[in-house]
Amino acid sequence: MRPQHSLEKRNLLPQDLQPINSMQDYKAQGGLEGLKKARTMTPEELIAVVKDANLRGRGGAGFPTAIKWDTVSKMPDPKKYVVCNMAEGEPGTYKDRYLVSKNPYLVFEGMLIAAHVIGAKQAILGTKKKFKDIVLRLQKALDEFEDEGIVERGFLKIVLGPDEYLFGEEKALLEVIDGRAPMPRFFPPFMVGVGVGPTETNPTVVNNAESMSHLPSIVSNGADWFRSMGTEDTPGTVILSISGDVKNPGMYEVEPGLTVNQMLNDLAGGPIGDLPFKAVFSGVANRVLTPDQFDLKVDFGTLRAAGVGLGSGGFIVYDQSRSMVDVLWMFDRFLAVSSCGQCVPCNMGTRVITDHIEKLRDGRGCEDDIEAILAECGRCTNQTRCFLPTQASILSRSVIEKFRAEFEYCAKNQNYEKSDLILPKLQHFDDDSGEFVYESDPIEFRVEIV
Ligand SMILES: Cc1cc2nc3c(=O)[nH]c(=O)nc-3n(C[C@H](O)[C@H](O)[C@H](O)COP(=O)(O)O)c2cc1C
Ligand code: SF4
Repeated sequence: MRPQHSLEKRNLLPQDLQPINSMQDYKAQGGLEGLKKARTMTPEELIAVVKDANLRGRGGAGFPTAIKWDTVSKMPDPKKYVVCNMAEGEPGTYKDRYLVSKNPYLVFEGMLIAAHVIGAKQAILGTKKKFKDIVLRLQKALDEFEDEGIVERGFLKIVLGPDEYLFGEEKALLEVIDGRAPMPRFFPPFMVGVGVGPTETNPTVVNNAESMSHLPSIVSNGADWFRSMGTEDTPGTVILSISGDVKNPGMYEVEPGLTVNQMLNDLAGGPIGDLPFKAVFSGVANRVLTPDQFDLKVDFGTLRAAGVGLGSGGFIVYDQSRSMVDVLWMFDRFLAVSSCGQCVPCNMGTRVITDHIEKLRDGRGCEDDIEAILAECGRCTNQTRCFLPTQASILSRSVIEKFRAEFEYCAKNQNYEKSDLILPKLQHFDDDSGEFVYESDPIEFRVEIV
């Protein structure tokens, strides 16, 4: 196993990366202290601690956790729910599964703290059926919580969902929990939650698995302790997944505030071959990062201010050998295939964007295709239910802005040599070999209507 790098700070992950396999081990390492303390505190006190700690959601948008909780806890409805989002479908991201593979107890402890805050009727974790080993670890940990009487039987629940990317979108996640297909509903979870009926809206808090896992130590050690790590904008630690053309791909828990340069060259060991880096993508929801931006700090605010984004901390790295036409086609095709079709501008627009890039790659395109992509980026987001088409729009615009010459080359040359890249849907990370295993068939699906 790789030794800890000086830029790493293991707070969620075990110091030695050895998996915690029993409740007994968990307790021996300080587990459950946060929950015990939380149960002696009022919801208002807990919200204040999480607000002071400035915990920002690790699911992608960096939304302040305390604001979500505050909204739902003040709602008068008798039934409320906590949902933990462990769908983890973002290309280039593996952090939630890595965390649970090391410690499946932390996430449940965090969910129980969140449930205490909002007075939830139930706390439900949604994850994918195909994450078999992870599901087994979670189920064993849940059983131990029940067997030891830490939680009433049936209060914690695991719901297994489909492979689709959209399953991770919070409104689609609630649909799956309610037994339907992963097609985002209209209203957000705090307005229409789990299991609504004609007279009940059941406000629901949805938080990412890593966000939940930060809660026990914030409650145990206090807001000042959490804020002593990372930056003012993004305190604490964040688990990065770094894949692609780097020497040392892998999973790294760090304090936000290191630069992109440090992340790529120090942590991930620099480029894998002789060629320098060309482009970095933090998942498929943000603008592309280029070497002129590598002095930026890795935190939500700095990257957002630069028009980029931290996303869920999954960085996909490409060197100079990669064509950005091929990369954008691969990402846009993934988004087009993932669109559930409920909103016409998204369903049509993401396909139109992909088709124009395909024409350029096939040597059938011209300059008009580039303009058509940019025009479609402005249309595909009209009155849509979720952020997916906005992702396609942000991503496509930024890649074309920065690498327009590559698209123009395709428009003028019919003999463009395209290469097929593998969509980095990460299936597993092997600590010993230091390598990711990619999903073998990452994008050939459509939302199944049940
Ligand atoms: C298309 C799409 C896919 C998403 N996939 C995930 C996911 O797999 N896991 C996740 O935690 N959030 C995902 N999100 C974000 C969730 O909708 C939601 O914002 C998040 O779970 C909130 O948790 P947080 O506040 O703790 O970050 C996705 C969003 C979109 C638009
Ligand atoms: S925006 Fe796209 S993916 Fe989202 S609900 Fe509408 S059609 Fe489905």
